Amino acid sequence: MLLPDQREEGSVYKKIYKTRDFKLKDDDINRYSGKTFFLKTYGCQMNERDSETLVAILESLGFSEEKDYTKADLLLLNTCSIRENAHNKAFGMLGRFKHLKEKRPEIIVGLCGCMAQELNVCEEIMKNYKFVNLIFGTHNIDRLPELLDEAVAKNSQQIEVLSREEDLVEGMPVIRSNKYKAYVNIIYGCDKFCTYCIVPYTRGRERSRKKEDILKEVKSLVDDGYKEITVLGQNVNAYGKDLYDDYHFGELLEDIAKSGIPRVRFMTSHPWDFTDKMIEVISKYPNIMPSIHLPVQSGSNRILKLMGRRYTKESYLELFDKIKNNIPGVSVSTDIIVGFPGEEEEDFLETMDLVNYCKFDNAFTFIYSERVGTPACKLKNNIPMEVREDRLQRLNEVVNNYFLENNNKLLNTELPVLVEGISDKKNMYYGYSDTNKLINFTSDNELNLGDIVNVVITEVHTWSLDGRVK
Ligand code: 5AD
Ligand code: SF4
Repeated sequence: MLLPDQREEGSVYKKIYKTRDFKLKDDDINRYSGKTFFLKTYGCQMNERDSETLVAILESLGFSEEKDYTKADLLLLNTCSIRENAHNKAFGMLGRFKHLKEKRPEIIVGLCGCMAQELNVCEEIMKNYKFVNLIFGTHNIDRLPELLDEAVAKNSQQIEVLSREEDLVEGMPVIRSNKYKAYVNIIYGCDKFCTYCIVPYTRGRERSRKKEDILKEVKSLVDDGYKEITVLGQNVNAYGKDLYDDYHFGELLEDIAKSGIPRVRFMTSHPWDFTDKMIEVISKYPNIMPSIHLPVQSGSNRILKLMGRRYTKESYLELFDKIKNNIPGVSVSTDIIVGFPGEEEEDFLETMDLVNYCKFDNAFTFIYSERVGTPACKLKNNIPMEVREDRLQRLNEVVNNYFLENNNKLLNTELPVLVEGISDKKNMYYGYSDTNKLINFTSDNELNLGDIVNVVITEVHTWSLDGRVK
């Protein structure tokens, strides 16, 4: 048994990471032929991307996917720790698995991902969810075949959670969930240590993939006919700083744009290290989508300082203006947390002022959630839940008005949209514009999924637009 140690996870140290290749043993291939797995993924795009690898490993082992969890032989949850509700959802699902396991004791239940990196979660499972066979974290996905074998052979709870990140593993298999859009990891982990955030503890220190490995993956996606890639990192702006003196995110983005992929997106960007080079590259290449996710978290300098965000409201706004003035037609989205410890009404009103200035195209708004082991969790002056909820509601009203106001400006304009499918609800094609707006649209001619078409906007809603192909 190997349990996580959050002090070790949170320690700052310098390590040089090596890269090694993943190889499945010949004996492992199809070892579980005829068995099925159910995998549920919570959380961010990183987790979705990890799940694409979990699926590929399981399928190489001979498993096939079963969408109905009551019928599967292996039940796996790839979990998220970012807020309490993600945590509660995973435990809720474990509760359902428990009933199933009582009826079918032979099934294997596993939990992986970010929650596995939390000692309190592992302890809770050891105490109250003894039926869970397998726990592994974010740093040893490549060990799934061995861990699974041990869990099956010993029929006891196997826990292997590494507190520190390992070397980078290249060549892990992947079965992508979309035929036209793909995620490409460029950097793992986060060193920013925002005081509210659990990610540096669950995902480890920043480790960039080598540029050759990234560009090789991008090239193979272009060759396979992919139309859009989203470059992923907890903070993509930190790319390369651990590896190269003069090759950072701007340079990488430029090389990715030159690969010929029709669309490039990236997320997430921390405002602290968003460079002029990045702005220059984004505005120069038409295939880099003019859509930037720039989390602000708060509009109060006092709260930003308590959050450890490394910028002020003024420097955020300066960057915001620079982006708006230099990237034609850019849309900017953000993340905002309300009810951080010590947030007074006047701090919240400063956030509202910032929102009124920025008029974001999209905003993900959250109630502050205490995460065990983070510095903010030890702060006094917790804000009562009714106040947090009230602020969220007031904030949402304002941000939603701006979504609609921005969308109204798009009426009768023409937007390029990647055709992704036909929505069941509306019986219309759907896809996203270059600026990442959800568009439902009709066409006189039948369209191919994966095409990029020009759509004229005919109707506007808060969270989507309707249109027809020109
Ligand atoms: N409570 C609430 N929201 C959080 N986020 C991160 N940690 C917390 C927390 N403890 C939000 C931030 C981040 C987004 C991914 O989740 O806004 O940008
Ligand atoms: Fe959730 Fe963060 Fe882990 Fe993503 S990295 S799954 S958001 S805790």
